[in-house]
Amino acid sequence: MARLNDNYLKLKAGYLFPEIGRRVKAFCDANPEAAQRLIRCGIGDVTEPLPPAAITALHRAVDEMAVRETFHGYGPEQGYEWLRAAIAQNDFRDRGCDVADDEIFVSDGAKCDTGNILDIFGHKNKIAISDPVYPVYVDTNVMAGHTGEANATGAYARLVYLPCKPGNGFIPEPPRRHVDVIYLCSPNNPTGAAANRPQLEAWVKYALAHEAVILFDAAYEAYLTDPALPHSIYEIPGARDCAIEFRSCSKNGGFTGVRCAFTVVPKSLRAATHTGERLPLHPLWLRRTTTKFNGVSYLVQRGAEALYSPDGQAQVRALIEHYLGNAKVLREGAKQAGLKVFGGLNAPYLWVKAPRGVTSWQAFDKILNEANVVITPGSGFGSKGEGYFRISAFNSRANAEEVARRLPELKW
Ligand code: MLT
Repeated sequence: MARLNDNYLKLKAGYLFPEIGRRVKAFCDANPEAAQRLIRCGIGDVTEPLPPAAITALHRAVDEMAVRETFHGYGPEQGYEWLRAAIAQNDFRDRGCDVADDEIFVSDGAKCDTGNILDIFGHKNKIAISDPVYPVYVDTNVMAGHTGEANATGAYARLVYLPCKPGNGFIPEPPRRHVDVIYLCSPNNPTGAAANRPQLEAWVKYALAHEAVILFDAAYEAYLTDPALPHSIYEIPGARDCAIEFRSCSKNGGFTGVRCAFTVVPKSLRAATHTGERLPLHPLWLRRTTTKFNGVSYLVQRGAEALYSPDGQAQVRALIEHYLGNAKVLREGAKQAGLKVFGGLNAPYLWVKAPRGVTSWQAFDKILNEANVVITPGSGFGSKGEGYFRISAFNSRANAEEVARRLPELKW
């Protein structure tokens, strides 16, 4: 008989967001009137239309596909050169980061890439993740067989958890022990915290000393408002030798439904073979990409390219300002409700402490039942998320204002 992947049986319940969706649907079916006034601040999905520059480019690209002379079939699996060049120039070289065009790999999502990247790593690595953490990092390692079983708090054997608490500003410190692969996310999902330069320097120093690789997820980079904060790990000297960076067009250009992202794999980044030889990872990721992926569609890549035009950049900035404006409104509302609020200043997420003695899922149920607002329970991101909940600022301004009005009405 065919064998299944036993590792999948170690996974806890469903993936967090479908599980929330299931509970919200059950609530709406049972309470059709309340469902009418439901506001979703759960999953971090954008709500505003695409920037006009992207729309124009998408339309033009569709028209090109209608004509034999400008039609496009398969493109390069790793992305068209013109998009890779626009990304490398605007997102990296203009910020003083040494990133070459061919170190950019265009993909259909940072979520996919942070999971797929495990294909080029071995199975014996010690893996460190923050707690709380974006669940994809954990679950993809479970699926790949890099962990043991989960304990009662949901923590998996063989993973090294780095606690993120108010005391460290929700930014993990390098551990005293050795690890080989480290997931960092800044600005952070779910806590909204953003790592400063000394914090990233400490991580690069650690990674170089331990010959570890940092998997740096910067999908929310566009939300950095504090000019002192680094936008890329490659702003830190030495990072080219120890870090892979993930970026996305989802949360800046509103591409969650369009799908375009990219991963940076520097050619100088190396990892060890089983015999101890140090070899570059870039050719492995290129091989993996060209073997398992046929690239992002021509249309979508043209849309993504338009985000880097002067008009596109201004329109992206306006979108970010809209969502950060929501975050400000929501922060005020949560504070008025007497809640302790973190994040929301350099990120589209607010990380809120539930009142004393209230668990994350109790807070979820109360806010859903009494305020008819969907949030994300912090415990869904890890055991250190227990007692917190996340509010997403991805919404219309009217909805953000309404949530800010309803939160203080709750009696805990
Ligand atoms: C989230 O809500 O955490 C995000 O939407 C997840 C994602 O971007 O995949």
